[in-house]
Order: sequence, then structure tokens, then C-alpha cells
Amino acid sequence: MTTKINNPSEYKISDLVHNGELYDYINRSDDDLEFYKKWCSISKSKTSNSNSNNGSTDSTCLELCSGTGRLTIPLAQSGIDIVGVDYTESMLKRASEKAQAKNIAITFVQQDIRELQLKHLNKNFCLIFIPFNSLQCLYSLDDLERFFKQVKAHMANDGLFIVDIFNPNIKIMIDRSIGWKNMINFKMDNGKEVKITEQCNYDAASEINRVKWKHSIDGEETIEQLDMRCFWPLEMDAILKYNGFEVIHKFGNFDESKFTSDSPKQIYVLKKAR
Ligand SMILES: C[S@@+](CC[C@H](N)C(=O)[O-])C[C@H]1O[C@@H](n2cnc3c(N)ncnc32)[C@H](O)[C@@H]1O
Repeated sequence: MTTKINNPSEYKISDLVHNGELYDYINRSDDDLEFYKKWCSISKSKTSNSNSNNGSTDSTCLELCSGTGRLTIPLAQSGIDIVGVDYTESMLKRASEKAQAKNIAITFVQQDIRELQLKHLNKNFCLIFIPFNSLQCLYSLDDLERFFKQVKAHMANDGLFIVDIFNPNIKIMIDRSIGWKNMINFKMDNGKEVKITEQCNYDAASEINRVKWKHSIDGEETIEQLDMRCFWPLEMDAILKYNGFEVIHKFGNFDESKFTSDSPKQIYVLKKAR
């Protein structure tokens, strides 16, 4: 775990946005945890009787873009066998340190999800999930197609795949394009004062929301890029269909409410199309 894997496209998320230490101050929510606990358990029971052709068992879950283990660690703590994959060294380092401090053994792998290759683990996963809008870090159709192909190759026969992304909200994007909006202020344990403000600029041709985060750390300001691909609801249905997935559920939030125009999220529970 020594190299940082760079995304070669012009779109990117800056190092400071994916800095493990800062990330954990900013992202403290666990609104999605119970949802993933439930689906880890459903997928395990669905595949428990169907061992794969290669003799491996199918009771392990896989979190893609696992970051600092915000979900991976509590899921493992609740007894779920789980592997995490991410390509950012500082996020993985933070995840491993937190898991170690809690004495929890989790396999974290440094990989680019577009080149996912976990055959060495000899597992077919009962659930693969990519939470917290992380799919929105894949900017091109080529990225998406390579990614979905690898997901299917790692799923157990009766396995599930969950994708959780925003429902693009035009009003919010317009609102946040006018001036800098305050996002969060906090004091780190080392006493440093952090203030983050945001400005959005949606590019319709690429469907990428070119978000800028202005970090002020102890008064020193830097502008960080946070490019988020938007997926419009019917477009996302089509992308999944033409990449070989069948929609079992499409929820609008983690309470499993039906997806509607006003839903904040698009949460897909998928299986491989036969
Ligand atoms: C929004 S964070 C989500 C972290 C974690 N899943 C959570 O729920 O808090 C997105 C993560 O995706 C990772 N990431 C983005 N693109 C990736 C790629 N192509 N391959 C692997 N990891 C990627 C980043 O390093 C970052 O840790």
C-alpha cells in the first residue's frame, strides 16, 4: 500500500477532499448503516445454499469505495464478513487504523474499482455495494462499463448489487452556484479550525457537477475540486439495464420509500439479468 492511484481524466476529487483525517470530521452520518446491515443479511441468506462452481462460499460482502470504513467497520462489528476496496491511500490507512484500534480484522484492498480484480481472495460476493454517492466519481461511459463488468464477475450467482447515488436536484445546484455557501465548520483534535464553503457549476454536456470546496484551515485557504457525475433517473435505469442488471427495488431513501421526483436519493437493489 505505497502508491497513490491517479484518475487520468481531467475530472477529479482533490486529495484534501479524500483526506482520511478530515473526511471523518466531515462525514459523521450513519443514516445508511441499518439499511446496509439489513441487505447484507438478506443477501447472505439468499446465497447461503448456493455454493459457487469454484468451491468458494458466498457469504462475504464487498464494499466498493470503502473510504475510512465509516460503514465497513460497524458492519464488521455486527458480525458481517466484509471486504473493503478503495484506491486512496490516506482513506485506507485511516480505515485500517480504526479497525485495528477496535480489534476488528477486515481485509482492505487498494484498487481502482474500474480494474477490480479480487480473484485471489477466492470469494464470490453475496452483496456488492457502492455507497455514499461514490459511483458519481466515475465520469465516463467507458469507466462505468468497465466497472459494471468487473462487479458482475465478482458477484455470487444469486448475489445482489446495491448502488446509492443522489437524485440530481436542479434547484439545489442552481442555489449553490450563486456565491459560496457555508458547508461545515469544526475544530480538529489538534486545535486547527476548519471551515468549508462550497460553490457548484453544473456542466450539462458532461453531466458533471463541478463542485469547488474552499477549505480554510487555520485561516489558510485552498480551493479543492470535487467533480460529481450526475445520473438522471431514467438514464440510470437504462445504463443499468444495458450493463446487464435487473432492478429488484429502486428506493428514494434509506427508509426504503418508493423513488419519486422529490426523493433525495436513487438507491438501486440489483441482480444480474438472466
Ligand atoms: C464519498 S467517499 C465514500 C467512503 C465510504 N464508502 C463512506 O461511505 O463513507 C468516496 C470514496 O471513493 C473512493 N474512490 C473514488 N473513485 C475510486 C476508484 N475509481 N477506485 C477506488 N476507489 C475510488 C475514494 O478514494 C473515497 O474514499
